[in-house]
Amino acid sequence: MAKRVLGRSGVEVSALGFGCWAIGGEWRDGEGNPLGWGKVDDEESVRAVRRAVELGVTFFDTADVYGTGHSERVLGKAVAGHREEVVIASKWGNTYDEATSTLTGTNTTPEYVRTALTATLKRLGTDYLDLYQLHDGGASPEAAEHLREACEELVREGLIRAYGWSTDDAERQRLFAQGPHCTAVQHQFNVLEDSPDILALCEELNLASINRGPLAMGLLTGKYQKGARLSDGDIRSTPPGWMRYFTQDGPAADWVARIEAVREVLTSGGRTLAQGAIAWLWARSELTVPIPGFRNVAQVEENAGALAYGPLRPEQVAEIDAILSAQP
Ligand SMILES: NC(=O)c1ccc[n+]([C@@H]2O[C@H](COP(=O)([O-])OP(=O)(O)OC[C@H]3O[C@@H](n4cnc5c(N)ncnc54)[C@H](OP(=O)(O)O)[C@@H]3O)[C@@H](O)[C@H]2O)c1
Repeated sequence: MAKRVLGRSGVEVSALGFGCWAIGGEWRDGEGNPLGWGKVDDEESVRAVRRAVELGVTFFDTADVYGTGHSERVLGKAVAGHREEVVIASKWGNTYDEATSTLTGTNTTPEYVRTALTATLKRLGTDYLDLYQLHDGGASPEAAEHLREACEELVREGLIRAYGWSTDDAERQRLFAQGPHCTAVQHQFNVLEDSPDILALCEELNLASINRGPLAMGLLTGKYQKGARLSDGDIRSTPPGWMRYFTQDGPAADWVARIEAVREVLTSGGRTLAQGAIAWLWARSELTVPIPGFRNVAQVEENAGALAYGPLRPEQVAEIDAILSAQP
């Protein structure tokens, strides 16, 4: 079983983690647009988390806002009695109304960090968090400096072991990383969306590179082809401005074409497409920890199966680069 250390924290995790956004179920923004992944079966989610642990996966990423608390509750239920066997990351910075499952805004004040963490620990059924991540990727540098100090205080109190930022901005992360217990950056990273600036920063400062969207929200499994329709409560059915993988008409045609172009290399040696996409991330750096989302046991089993194959070879990564750079 391949392992990774979460940057300078020394916290060891499996090289693959699982992302718990989808298992939060349905929630919406103030205008009623979906922010979840449609309906989920909580019992299946619990079985899936437990199956992941059985297969050696020890790292789970969630956020207070996923399902406005529901994801944390489901994860907490799944790992109850096994807390020391897993490494749990969560996030704060968004505000929400649990009664209506609605996102209400953001709060990046230092005072709110403790309020958010207290609620998170209660939902997870634990008295400490391994990794706490700022969820507002565009928070101001001034706010981040105060939040960094607030996080250091939480580390001193033993409430969190380490912290990081979910951001795609290397300069913001560099500022956060001045805190001695800042150990990770969570960033968008997959075969079709390289992230060289953040990766270089991780190498320079010994930070874990936690990879969100490793399967391009499901596109990199190959199952969503032209014209595919997503359910009404699924964020991919009504894509917000930032989402590039799906359009109002279904999967984005240019993304699907690029995936087809690299399918053969990714699936070489018997890997499935999803396993190949994970293997590409491992090949990019020894600091990467992909955290694919999941909604059932079968997806967990397939994605955890990537561990047996390990990273792609450097020449395969180079071949993919060459193919993608020749694409329109
Ligand atoms: N701002 C942030 O901090 C942020 C933003 C995004 C994500 N994240 C984190 O990153 C995690 C992963 O990213 P993501 O959720 O954007 O998407 P992703 O990992 O790229 O895609 C996950 C989705 O793909 C489908 N899938 C997964 N494995 C599969 C398999 N083997 N076969 C077929 N389909 C499969 C599932 O959805 P369907 O079955 O419904 O297709 C699953 O929910 C999240 O759960 C969350 O923890 C954080």
